[in-house]
Amino acid sequence: MRIYHLSAECYPVAKVGGLADVVGALPKYQNQAGLNAAVVLPYYNRKFVREHQFDIVFEASSLMGTERFDFEILKERTNVLGFELYLIRVPGLIDREEVYSYPDEREQFIAFQIAFLDWINWSQQRPDIIHCHDHHTGLIPFLLYHSVIYKRLKNTPTVFTIHNGQYHGAFSWNKANLLPEFDPAAAGLLDWAGGINPLAAAVKCSSRYTTVSPSYLNELTRQSNGLEYLFYLENWRALGIVNGIDSEVWNPDKDSMIPARYSAKKINPGKQQNKLALCQRFGLDVEKPLVSFIGRLVIEKGADLLPDAIAHSIRELEGQVNFLLLGTGDKDTEERLKILAEQYPENCKVYIGYDEELSHQIYAGADFLLMPSRVEPCGLNQLYSLRYGTVPIVRSTGGLQDTVIDFGEEGGYGIRFDQPSVADISYSISRALAVYQNTDQLQLLRKRMMALDFSWNQSAGQYIQLYKSLISQL
Ligand code: ADP
Ligand code: GLC
Repeated sequence: MRIYHLSAECYPVAKVGGLADVVGALPKYQNQAGLNAAVVLPYYNRKFVREHQFDIVFEASSLMGTERFDFEILKERTNVLGFELYLIRVPGLIDREEVYSYPDEREQFIAFQIAFLDWINWSQQRPDIIHCHDHHTGLIPFLLYHSVIYKRLKNTPTVFTIHNGQYHGAFSWNKANLLPEFDPAAAGLLDWAGGINPLAAAVKCSSRYTTVSPSYLNELTRQSNGLEYLFYLENWRALGIVNGIDSEVWNPDKDSMIPARYSAKKINPGKQQNKLALCQRFGLDVEKPLVSFIGRLVIEKGADLLPDAIAHSIRELEGQVNFLLLGTGDKDTEERLKILAEQYPENCKVYIGYDEELSHQIYAGADFLLMPSRVEPCGLNQLYSLRYGTVPIVRSTGGLQDTVIDFGEEGGYGIRFDQPSVADISYSISRALAVYQNTDQLQLLRKRMMALDFSWNQSAGQYIQLYKSLISQL
């Protein structure tokens, strides 16, 4: 079964968040299960691309509106990632360093999608499934089924996975001329609230759409930046599949980025050594429980709550708990966190920036990982922390709700709270302190967490079932 995954991100080529981790791992597991899955990304002028060899496998030019653009399809030579990796390069438009936030981002993603369709169309390919991820690739199902140009590919089933339903990639109808010619009677499928909305179009046109957890699928009907009614109407066509993790990259027993390796058989000495290294680096007392946060400093993640919640906890618990935060994002939150670290230098350290290696060291060395997310479609951080025996403290929402059981319940291993509020976070931190002070309980939770299996083996199978059901309907 030949599958193309289309995405803006893929670890380790270009990563901003969890989308990259998923697209960098799922196809590998699908291939191990006997599929033939490949990934297609925009070309990025980044380390991975500079350090690997690519062959140009296709060259052509196409039209975006009245503008002709040249494009190349490059293929990584050795399939080093466990799948075929293709990059679409459009000189002057898709050949830059950053993944998002260019003023002509709209044109970048439209050109990317046109080039992909033209390539498979002109090279006479017939993939079994085209699997699109997030709004950047959301126009593909519409174009496949409603543009005469691609009528040869009209029967190809498409799957659309929503990793983040808050972003839609919407743009004005006055840019409709950038799209390849399509059936005017189908124009309504592109529309939501008077604009062209790629996320809405993908939900309407894909053969099936999925979200990255079942709880998030339901939440979208209540909170999706204006698409609630659409999600309510289309819910019956959707499926929530919890993400897996790449257990080769995220494995405390083999992780070359952490100072001491450890496994479920013998957890404590290794974890303690990692904690010691982390505390020495940041000047924190290793005897105290270490609560960490890793992630984008944005409202969705509840990062704006961290400064007050942490200050409150430090005061209330009389400095018995330490905090280490790694993240980058909203400037205001970054500033407030820096001030927090200055106010409580013994208890709180903040690293503003993106650092993959440090993130592994924190998953390994921290005792707890805090995720006060307002919205969390799946969340990978809590899955990594479980794998590294670090107790997740999460708000009960989306994928966090689907993957973390509170230790107060039978077989539980994490800490959950309901509201994204200073009060709920502080209360959870005090529960964490109590767990930390009860060595036997902490040990039991670590054992339970590390015995869990959140590898892709499970979830990859659910996608394969979905593909098979779509192919059988042809
Ligand atoms: P999202 O995709 O919404 O940001 P996820 O939990 O799915 O959230 O994935 C976040 C991924 O990005 C994880 O791999 C996490 O370790 C990583 N990450 C986020 N911020 C940073 C950072 N500042 N430095 C290193 N890794 C980070
Ligand atoms: C998004 C979501 C996150 C999810 C990730 C991968 O970025 O915010 O919750 O884990 O995609 O699916």
